Amino acid sequence: MEHHIAIADGVYWVGVNDRRTKLFESMWPLPHGVSYNAYLIDDEKVVLIDAVKDLFSGDLAGNLHALLGGSRPVDYLVINHIEPDHSGAVQLLRQLFPQMQIVGNKKTVEFLQHLHGIGDNLLVVQDGDELALGRRTLRFALTPMVHWPETMMTYLAEEGILFSGDAFGGFGTLERGIFDDMLPEHVLVEDEALRYYSNIVGRVSPMVQNALKKLAGLELKMVAPTHGLVWRGNPRRIVDLYDRWSRYQAEEAVVLAYASMYGNTERIMEAVAHALTRAGVRDLRVHNVAESHPSYILRDIWRARGLVIGTPTYELGVFPMVDNLLSMLHEKRLCERTLGIFGSYGWSGGGVKGVQEFAAKMKWEVVEPVVEARFATKAEHLVQVEQMARALAKRVREFHPA
Ligand SMILES: Cc1cc2nc3c(=O)[nH]c(=O)nc-3n(C[C@H](O)[C@H](O)[C@H](O)COP(=O)(O)O)c2cc1C
Ligand SMILES: [Fe+2]
Ligand SMILES: [Fe+2]
Repeated sequence: MEHHIAIADGVYWVGVNDRRTKLFESMWPLPHGVSYNAYLIDDEKVVLIDAVKDLFSGDLAGNLHALLGGSRPVDYLVINHIEPDHSGAVQLLRQLFPQMQIVGNKKTVEFLQHLHGIGDNLLVVQDGDELALGRRTLRFALTPMVHWPETMMTYLAEEGILFSGDAFGGFGTLERGIFDDMLPEHVLVEDEALRYYSNIVGRVSPMVQNALKKLAGLELKMVAPTHGLVWRGNPRRIVDLYDRWSRYQAEEAVVLAYASMYGNTERIMEAVAHALTRAGVRDLRVHNVAESHPSYILRDIWRARGLVIGTPTYELGVFPMVDNLLSMLHEKRLCERTLGIFGSYGWSGGGVKGVQEFAAKMKWEVVEPVVEARFATKAEHLVQVEQMARALAKRVREFHPA
């Protein structure tokens, strides 16, 4: 990867690709890696917007050296988001540029002290404040909880560039070009952006809506997030996608997530899948929760209006990996889904009941009938499956956005 890539006159991407970290936040798989995007504005003042994970501090220093030589220092480090995947390099930056001022809000300063033990050379900004760089001006917009309490965005007014932090970001490294307009229309781009959204940002969707309202008046020529593509060709595309995702708006699609130890629940799953297809569902994704990482299941559920959960009863309750998925959905506070439920039990039952309790907690609509077989599936269950699938297909169609 080149050391730096110009994104506008005197504005450079100076980030890094991380192909070493296997699990983002120790949890979310990174089969295509992830980028930490840092940006340098070379004006009368030199500003670095966000940094990188500590593991890559040296790479960032090299990128800066290639641009600035040994002579010009970085005057300001703007910390839009202090999560260590972006602020990890701060200590090395302070050693390299002892005069550098760190720009953040009240919360950033509080976190900076506790996270990095740094309490000097600070410039505290409030919502709407501006910082003159010489020829151009930065404006700060506080966007709390997108993704942490200190999160803010920085707008370079003269260029129409929004440095948006984690918002509008995606998983995946940037080897083929850092701009959206350099890539073919490839499903991976949206898939990895949605996976990032659902895994990392989804829980704070209402705050994303607040941030979008705040940004509504801005002329956006470019959206430059801290992960993934820089949106230059069509910046509205990612903003519109975030708007849809954070309103929980879904497509005419169904996800079928199930587990099965000995095949009884799996046989019902097959019947449900066929029945849904017969009922007109064209976009159906099936996940065995013991095999698919919840990262991918969450992503698919985020875009699907309908969900069907199938579970055996296991030690009086929901199968553990199904339970894990349900608890993640609860944590992510996903709203407005329509649910079908099926399962199998041997004696006490409890699996299907657990999923019903989850649906009540989520205030999700459950389509009837709920299908529950004692051990093996019988003819009556197949009739119920047909009814459930037809009811779900109907609801999913009704909710399809015009
Ligand atoms: C380890 C284990 C624990 C189970 N615990 C219960 C239970 O607590 N209550 C119950 O009704 N059935 C229980 N069952 C029975 C299963 O729910 C039943 O066999 C079901 O048909 C399994 O579905 P499957 O073939 O899709 O795995 C248990 C089965 C296994 C293997
Ligand atoms: Fe973050
Ligand atoms: Fe991040």
